[in-house]
Amino acid sequence: MSITEEIRSDAKPATAETELPPALEASGISKSFRAKRSSLQVLDDITLTVRKGEFVSIVGPSGSGKSTLFHIIGGLVKPDAGTVRMNGTDVTGEQGHISYMPQQPALFPWRTIEDNVLLSQEVQGSVDQAARENARYWLDKVGLGGFEKAHPHTLSGGMQQRAAFLRALLSPQELMCLDEPFSALDALTRSDMQRWLLDIWEESRRSVLFITHNIEEALLLSSRIYVFSGRPASVLQVVDVPFPRPRREEIIEHPDFIKLRRELSGWMREEQQKMQGSRSKK
Ligand SMILES: Nc1ncnc2c1ncn2[C@@H]1O[C@H](COP(=O)(O)OP(=O)(O)O)[C@@H](O)[C@H]1O
Ligand SMILES: [Mg+2]
Repeated sequence: MSITEEIRSDAKPATAETELPPALEASGISKSFRAKRSSLQVLDDITLTVRKGEFVSIVGPSGSGKSTLFHIIGGLVKPDAGTVRMNGTDVTGEQGHISYMPQQPALFPWRTIEDNVLLSQEVQGSVDQAARENARYWLDKVGLGGFEKAHPHTLSGGMQQRAAFLRALLSPQELMCLDEPFSALDALTRSDMQRWLLDIWEESRRSVLFITHNIEEALLLSSRIYVFSGRPASVLQVVDVPFPRPRREEIIEHPDFIKLRRELSGWMREEQQKMQGSRSKK
């Protein structure tokens, strides 16, 4: 089968999957932050969906409101308008429904790496021997074997990010929200982590919503990409990424990949220029 034929056959999702209610439906989300005399509109009528087992990315300029959307999905911030539904149930403003990796790793300094990784499971119930063994299996798999009993400050930034990522991966909630998880990593480590995340995701097929600045990363990992405008963020484009899975790294050299990357880069550049333009007018 040629790569384009594979692309076409992969484009149709299984019927059974499409009939289930989506893991996440955010509809018409708007949000402004109010200070005493001014108001800053951050999100403008955002609607997006993550179906079960889908890997969905958001790309958009810095400061556009992406992390704020995650705070709303996670119930930390209330939207001015709109709803958040998970598996068909309205959970707007409720916490505890997502597994979340914030932009900063946010590990607890007094807990060991293993206990940090097990935190969400501990909050949801108890941690038994099987959970500990599973955590050790994964720690080993991400190159943190031998650091189970270490404390976060003794690890490099990249290692801390891997630990924070594992904590999200091992959380029992179905939907994982990852906020620029690889932003602090150098290019080489980042590319290793992308490969690694791709493998893990293709094995586990968790529902993922992923924020990134990196267009190539979004195209490599995602089933669908939402392109956000500058602030206030609205959905500029929704791009279906048609490449077959399991994906191989060679995909980045495929003409269709290059075409999509060019298109997305163009939109992002335009948005960044608009944002810079509106800033210099002030
Ligand atoms: N709690 C808050 N109060 C006031 N302003 C906020 C708050 N949270 C975020 N903002 C502002 O909202 C805008 C969008 O921020 P953020 O969602 O972090 O953007 P992104 O993640 O896309 O870089 C920024 O201008 C930020 O300063
Ligand atoms: Mg952010």
